[in-house]
Amino acid sequence: MNDKIKKIILKKNKQKILCLTSYSKNIAEILDRFVDIILVGDSLGSVLYNYNSTRKVLLRNMIEHSKSVRMGIRKSLMVVDMPFQTYRTKNEALSNAKKLMKITKCDAVKLEGGKKIINIIDYLIKNKIPVMGHIGILPQSVKGKFRFKGKNKSDKKKLISDAKLLEESGVFSIVLECIESSTSMAITKSLKIPTIGIGSSSNCDGQVLVTDDMIGLNPNSFRFVKKYGNVKKYIESSVKKFRSDVLNKKFPTKKYSFVY
Ligand code: KIV
Repeated sequence: MNDKIKKIILKKNKQKILCLTSYSKNIAEILDRFVDIILVGDSLGSVLYNYNSTRKVLLRNMIEHSKSVRMGIRKSLMVVDMPFQTYRTKNEALSNAKKLMKITKCDAVKLEGGKKIINIIDYLIKNKIPVMGHIGILPQSVKGKFRFKGKNKSDKKKLISDAKLLEESGVFSIVLECIESSTSMAITKSLKIPTIGIGSSSNCDGQVLVTDDMIGLNPNSFRFVKKYGNVKKYIESSVKKFRSDVLNKKFPTKKYSFVY
């Protein structure tokens, strides 16, 4: 097991684990100083490409963005989402995971699902691919509205059982997406590996958010996302100043020109 992964597991019950998404070098470079895990999420489909579902994201999209992200990371663990229909069979999953890891030099891959894909995850781990699990809302499987998970007894039981299966199979942590608070607590307490929550309360070992959402670059707002900044406003104000300078012939001055 890679040292970065060991360190993350050791944080359980000691220190909260921080994870944010990045789709490019420039953002990764900023995040790298402050977080433990940088996730190249397939959320890039909706955030950057305006797709109505992450199902449209292709392996080559993930590869290109991950190559860029890799250049911005020095210390964090880099995890890349395996997109929809890239892990339908064991062989397909292994060949795509190997390709992702070889080309992007990421540390681990993330797959959505529990029991349904456990044989695939087993196979990847047996073949030395580090895997992060993901249960609760599974955006690659959702058709229609997203509804939070784990609110009734049977749902709670299933989520706990999925999490246990994933742990037994050897995943090093599990993302819990939009899971009811007491269910998140039960899952987190039942595991030795850390849980990383998104919309799943503080009862998780760590937290992940989509960076574009939390810095206010993505106009969508979700109940579970706290906006920590308004980068959109900041960009707007810079663009306005540029526009005004150019129109009023204040830019470029001699300082910004080559004069011989
Ligand atoms: O795709 C993504 O960004 C994710 C996070 C929301 C966990 O899977």
